[in-house]
Amino acid sequence: MADENVRDGNAAEGIDRAARALALSSRTVVLTGAGISKESGIPTFRDLDGIWTKYRAEELASREGFLSNPALVWNWYMERRTAARAAQPNSGHRALARLETLLPVFLLVTQNVDNLHLRAGNREIVELHGNIERYRCFECGKPSREDDSWSKGPPRCACGGLIRPNIVWFGEPLPAAELECSYRETQRCDALLIVGTSGIVHPAAMLPSVARQSGAFLIEVNVDPSGITPIVDVFLAGKAGKVLPGLVRRVEEFLAG
Ligand code: APR
Repeated sequence: MADENVRDGNAAEGIDRAARALALSSRTVVLTGAGISKESGIPTFRDLDGIWTKYRAEELASREGFLSNPALVWNWYMERRTAARAAQPNSGHRALARLETLLPVFLLVTQNVDNLHLRAGNREIVELHGNIERYRCFECGKPSREDDSWSKGPPRCACGGLIRPNIVWFGEPLPAAELECSYRETQRCDALLIVGTSGIVHPAAMLPSVARQSGAFLIEVNVDPSGITPIVDVFLAGKAGKVLPGLVRRVEEFLAG
């Protein structure tokens, strides 16, 4: 698929419509998923080479899975953390960090836990599913800092509870404050830019509909159509690392008048 081939068949026209909407937007929300980190070498979940094609999500990303095999789950997250730290933000991450500096009110809502948006320079970030760099006690909930016991298998809190990643597992509620903030800002935004998500995992997947119902202009960047594509105003087909830099440059041109 061409790198910039919008649904209405004209890449330049799609980029212009999307960039104009962003430049005119007084409140902008960006929603990202695993696709934006694919070009940094971090696998997505549901692509043909995705994480859930190799592992059973219930075994690795659930309370039951953790309690039934703490060492397996702990080691898997330590591997994912090592991979995330070795990865570099790509040009798509950097474009979104640039976009934050250009627009009056901006919020980046991410489903990703890889910490790459923060490393790319975004500051107004809401992490719906947590962060691979944060850990807490499974029992008492106390935040936990790494010590040399971490390399020897799942460590324990002073209370005796197992330490777990501060990441939302299947069947667990999202952090209330983050979800409420994302919902509120999506309801108030003029433009919602959706990048690299299959749009099927709720409640994040409901945010585009919330924005749509509030009259926002919806833009999607994805290599393939997703569950969200039917309700967006402009679909920019292509890799985030290729499409976003050009989109943000066009926003700058509109803002420069
Ligand atoms: N650029 C843009 N989009 C891409 C790229 C790319 N280079 N590569 C893949 N994609 C798209 C895919 O087409 C797909 O639509 O990224 C999306 C990835 O979808 P998923 O793997 O389902 O990831 P995501 O939507 O983030 O999953 C949501 O599910 O398992 C849970 O907690 C996990 O946060 C995750 C949630």
